[in-house]
Amino acid sequence: MIQELKKNIFSVGANHPDRKYFDSLFYLPEGTTYNSYLIKGKTKTALIDTVEPSKAQVLLKNLQKLKIKKIDYVIANHAEQDHSGSLPMVLKKYPEATILCSDKCAGMLMELIGFNKPKIRIVKDHEKISLGDKTLEFIYFPWVHWPETMLTYLHEDKILFSCDLFGSHLGTDNLLKSNKKKLDYFSKQYFAQIMMPYRNIIKNNFPILKNYKFAMIAPSHGPIYTKPDTIIKKYLEWVSGKAKNIAVIAYVSMHNSTQNMAEYLAKRLEKKGVSVHLHDISEVDVGEIMIDVVDAATLIIGTPCYLAGIHPKAMYTIYNIAALRPKTKYFSVLGSYGWGGKITDEIIPMFKGVKMELLPPVVIKGMPREKDFKQLDELANSIAEKHKKL
Ligand code: FEO
Repeated sequence: MIQELKKNIFSVGANHPDRKYFDSLFYLPEGTTYNSYLIKGKTKTALIDTVEPSKAQVLLKNLQKLKIKKIDYVIANHAEQDHSGSLPMVLKKYPEATILCSDKCAGMLMELIGFNKPKIRIVKDHEKISLGDKTLEFIYFPWVHWPETMLTYLHEDKILFSCDLFGSHLGTDNLLKSNKKKLDYFSKQYFAQIMMPYRNIIKNNFPILKNYKFAMIAPSHGPIYTKPDTIIKKYLEWVSGKAKNIAVIAYVSMHNSTQNMAEYLAKRLEKKGVSVHLHDISEVDVGEIMIDVVDAATLIIGTPCYLAGIHPKAMYTIYNIAALRPKTKYFSVLGSYGWGGKITDEIIPMFKGVKMELLPPVVIKGMPREKDFKQLDELANSIAEKHKKL
């Protein structure tokens, strides 16, 4: 995957279209890419980030095809192995190269990659280096999504190499061409599953970017942005504390009772002007639910009682949502049981890290009847009233 982005600036990373999961957790229907960028200056050459170790040979072959004899700097924006894991192979081939990274990243590279005598030079926040006719500036931007992360800015060409920030798990051989609909989907999913827990820190760091102009944003996963304003605007919206007039209802049902309740509530909410995203947990990957949770003001979990507690599939979804700490303001529970169970009692503590107000749950015995639908009407009223004040 070699592409010349501009004169003497190349993408030299690897496409991994058949990778199915990231972190053995996030489902990747379209795979991903590990983007690595080569910048040939008049006097020095720099490589920005490497690739996942299983794709090291792709990177090395790309460098060979470009007839790169010497690399002066390998910039490690981030220590996670999908970008740093090929550093040993790159250093073996280009032993004169010096690794440039943040102070925190240096320690992590030694621990995670196991360098014995690392050729690491720590760069300071906003430090610049010259490649002759090109100037790189390092911008510390912690917690996107690890504490050591930095961005690299190429002044003359106004390109931000943003590593995971603004990334998307979307495999492609052409980083400069993307399907807008797919990129919208996968960039938001990436934000939800990787960046969202740190959205307040990201929001606080965002003003740093106002000091720079961007002709291009080149992340370390997925397509490049040649009109960077679009993704910057989206991030500003996602990291803001403002939730939208959206309710996400994520349910699992064994004998249709919980499903009937979820569908009834969805219809009542829509009648009241609330936009609803209804997900059957058994049918969709949790990543699909997370995309809608990014903006939603309300989350409803529907689960039947399985044995004496929450259905395991609902448990998995709740655990994921709670870990990703969305800005959701309200939540409630609906569900059905046969002989007993403490569904709500189990769910409430799981969400203790997310500041959501609990609206009265509707947990019933058996199939929903008139009195139960009335409770759901009341829940719909309550949600609609809360959303009016958003
Ligand atoms: Fe793509 Fe945090 O690594």
